[in-house]
Amino acid sequence: MMLMFQMVLLLCVGGSVAQDVLSPIVNIIEELEKLKNMEERIKALEETMNKVVSENEDKKIAFSAALLASGSGQTGPFDTSKTLTYKKVFSNIGDAYDSNTGIFTAPVKGVYYFRFYAHSHDGRTSAVSLFKNSQNQCAVHTSKPTTNGNASNGIVLTLEKDDQVYTQLWEKTWVYDDANSYTSFSGFILFTL
Ligand SMILES: *[C@@H]1O[C@H](CO)[C@@H](O)[C@H](O)[C@H]1NC(C)=O
Repeated sequence: MMLMFQMVLLLCVGGSVAQDVLSPIVNIIEELEKLKNMEERIKALEETMNKVVSENEDKKIAFSAALLASGSGQTGPFDTSKTLTYKKVFSNIGDAYDSNTGIFTAPVKGVYYFRFYAHSHDGRTSAVSLFKNSQNQCAVHTSKPTTNGNASNGIVLTLEKDDQVYTQLWEKTWVYDDANSYTSFSGFILFTL
């Protein structure tokens, strides 16, 4: 120990020779600084990665459903407009669509795309509107077609978390469905906000 001390002392007063031998000590401190910086950068990267992963999980929202689960026939007419409950669920990733109520509830704030089809049969007038919360957004209308008719509409909507989207059959109109799933409702998220 004493010998070491003497050696260091000797080197200290040894001018340029001492500088050369001591310089690795200075480098180690620099290296430690670099490591510390790297650790901070890795921590920041980890935080970003976790955010990206969870955002990607949030983005798994898509559903598609047709009106009748089985059989065929008219739905309607009703005295007041009625929310359509699409029973044949093809997909419901993220479970945001409820086939008991016909309502899609946004799990996260984002931009979503919705599409709906309405088939009218046997010359019956058919009209369906899409609502965001209780506000009418867009509709389809087939008035007394000679035989049958097909109508569809689609919309991109910005939704807050818990906003609700659904379709309603207008009062005193009909909509038809069978095994071909003519009448349907679909939606999916484009991106979160
Ligand atoms: C509506 O679509 C059905 C199924 O493709 C078709 O049979 C029918 O002819 C269409 N109606 C009209 C008016 O285009």
